[in-house]
Amino acid sequence: MVIISKNGDYLGVFVYFGYITICVSLPVTNIASGKLELQTDGSKWSREGVDEVYRMVNKQTNTKVAKNIILFIGDGMGVTTMTAARILDGQLKGQSGEDNKLYFETYDHTSLAKTYCLDKMTPDSASTATAMLTGVKTNYKILGMDGNAVVNNCSHSMKYSQKLQTILHWAQKLGKRTGIVSTARVTHATPAAAYSHTANRDWEGDVNMEQQDAPCKDIARQLIEDNPTINVILGGGRRHFLPNTMRDPGTGRIEDSQRADGRDLIKEWLSDKRSRNSTYSYVWNRDQFLNVSGNKEYLLGLFSSSHMSYDIDRRTSGKQGEPSLSEMTNKAIDILSKGQNGYFLLVEGARIDHGHHDNKAKKALYDVLAFDNAVKAAGSRPESSPDTTLSIVTADHSHVFNIVGYPQRGSDVLGLVRDTGGLVTDQNGKPYTILHYSNGPSYTQNINLRYVNTTTAWFPFPAGYSTQYETHGGEDVVVYAKGPMSHLVRGSHEQTYITYVMAYSACIGPFLDPSNSPVCSSGRV
Ligand SMILES: *[C@@H]1O[C@H](CO)[C@@H](O)[C@H](O)[C@H]1NC(C)=O
Ligand SMILES: *[C@@H]1O[C@H](CO)[C@@H](O)[C@H](O)[C@H]1NC(C)=O
Ligand SMILES: *[C@@H]1O[C@H](CO)[C@@H](O)[C@H](O)[C@H]1NC(C)=O
Ligand SMILES: *[C@@H]1O[C@H](CO)[C@@H](O)[C@H](O)[C@H]1NC(C)=O
Ligand SMILES: [Zn+2]
Repeated sequence: MVIISKNGDYLGVFVYFGYITICVSLPVTNIASGKLELQTDGSKWSREGVDEVYRMVNKQTNTKVAKNIILFIGDGMGVTTMTAARILDGQLKGQSGEDNKLYFETYDHTSLAKTYCLDKMTPDSASTATAMLTGVKTNYKILGMDGNAVVNNCSHSMKYSQKLQTILHWAQKLGKRTGIVSTARVTHATPAAAYSHTANRDWEGDVNMEQQDAPCKDIARQLIEDNPTINVILGGGRRHFLPNTMRDPGTGRIEDSQRADGRDLIKEWLSDKRSRNSTYSYVWNRDQFLNVSGNKEYLLGLFSSSHMSYDIDRRTSGKQGEPSLSEMTNKAIDILSKGQNGYFLLVEGARIDHGHHDNKAKKALYDVLAFDNAVKAAGSRPESSPDTTLSIVTADHSHVFNIVGYPQRGSDVLGLVRDTGGLVTDQNGKPYTILHYSNGPSYTQNINLRYVNTTTAWFPFPAGYSTQYETHGGEDVVVYAKGPMSHLVRGSHEQTYITYVMAYSACIGPFLDPSNSPVCSSGRV
């Protein structure tokens, strides 16, 4: 057996041969965690492998009708991102990390999804969220409209493209409660794909729409005017709801409110709920949020003028205090589960994507952990147990993010590549990080990382090509599923397949029609 343990700046390698112990000490500065027990004993792998097979053999398939659906989208959470986050998570728990599991990696079923959109090999979040929420692939930057929409051309798109119903609308039709939770502005691409129809995802507020040639509505107005019965809306983005004459309540700055049409859409939301004689609350900081009862019928929470913070930067109290993604998910389930007919909830970990676009891998990875905590929060509640609830965890697209070199087991995933001989260097004698990007703003030709602390949140990990922002990646993403009909999530599929699995599981949307689903209409059990 070999045990590697870290003691200050020295790495001790203890090799046990029966009674004889050999100890080698190596100077290190950057190897992560406590103790690594290498499973050098082959029979242990074989024992665990056999157990794992029997565990899988004995799994029951769940063919019930889902009462509830939760779709968790880790924005930009490609496979490499999940692997790096899994290692980081393990290292934060004092393990070597590679053999750790994120919570959602314990889900029963997985498949791959192809993420290309109609006109691009590598997609954006608008086209991919539309694929997952409407079941139709569309063009880059389009939300909730089919492929006849032309980006940025309102009149053309209104004339030739069909506005698509989303799974949220299908759920509402059956009297289910609905909710949207995101760490982005609630008008941003992924959350907006659940409710809006627009020829440009950037038309979040009226201030973003130069084009006045046709009756296109900004996304914030579509949310408030066209979707008054969404029960829970939690995220950032106050700026598109408040008139530019009003100070933002969090920052006190007038320039943080952006509506040019003079409307206060939050006030309009409140008066609509009043006119429905419903119970409702609007909150804009964490203290208020924690104080809100989960017995309300409607909850609107806008916790930032723009996007909410990266979890690693998040304040927890005061005017700029923000709830965590798991706190928002829990509150959403409080409210949604009080409906009679179940619910549909979309939860987005939005800023994984933003961390990557800036090459700030640590921010992105900590946001994966916050996202995983939200999945776990939902998974720990009876109101979203796999008996009644189909949970799907996936990403909309990947990023050009890599885990490179041959780092020794247990190496700090945010650090430099080391092996038993110490720092590994490239052909020019320079050490390099384990995490890398193919492109992005951090590109510099002449960088020597030997004395750089690469584990701080603001360190931009190296990029091979210089681009203003790091780009998305075009490979498949993983879909994880648990709950009723989750065994349909297997094999390799178009991303649109996710919509139909959710719809079939809950017998909504196209499966309401008996000719599409005799099984649904005869009452599946
Ligand atoms: C929008 O499309 C129409 C054709 O349907 C075209 O005549 C018009 O010039 C386009 N507008 C813009 C701004 O591209
Ligand atoms: C709300 O209550 C008022 C007064 O009780 C009643 O006149 C009105 O019709 C109610 N509105 C709705 C939408 O139920
Ligand atoms: C908490 O809720 C109570 C009852 O709704 C309210 O009176 C109080 O002002 C709230 N406190 C905060 C900090 O929002
Ligand atoms: C590097 O940064 C991390 C994170 O901020 C910090 O915990 C650590 O102490 C720093 N290491 C050194 C050698 O300064
Ligand atoms: Zn992105």
